Amino acid sequence: MFRRIEQAGSDSVSLRIEGREFQVPAGISVAAAVLLCGFAKVRNTPVTDSPRLPYCMMGTCFDCLMCIDGVPNLQACQVVVRQNMVIEYQRGAAELQQQE
Ligand code: FES
Repeated sequence: MFRRIEQAGSDSVSLRIEGREFQVPAGISVAAAVLLCGFAKVRNTPVTDSPRLPYCMMGTCFDCLMCIDGVPNLQACQVVVRQNMVIEYQRGAAELQQQE
């Protein structure tokens, strides 16, 4: 479905997605990394448990919510990969955090 345009000399970063190590090109989004690594979902919907993948890749659909470095509810298409990043599926419904 997706095919990456090769760029000569680009750097890569190591990261962990759902407990598995991957090398991905530096500068891509977490959503792009998840797709590049062949994952079939980033979360399941809380109501019907349907698997979801990134859709718009520009921050409008919220289908790409993931837990990144322990922080849930992040839009994976809006976060750039970093070395040693830990990425996990979003589990359960997104929650709003109360400001105190
Ligand atoms: S893919 Fe639509 S908001 Fe991230």
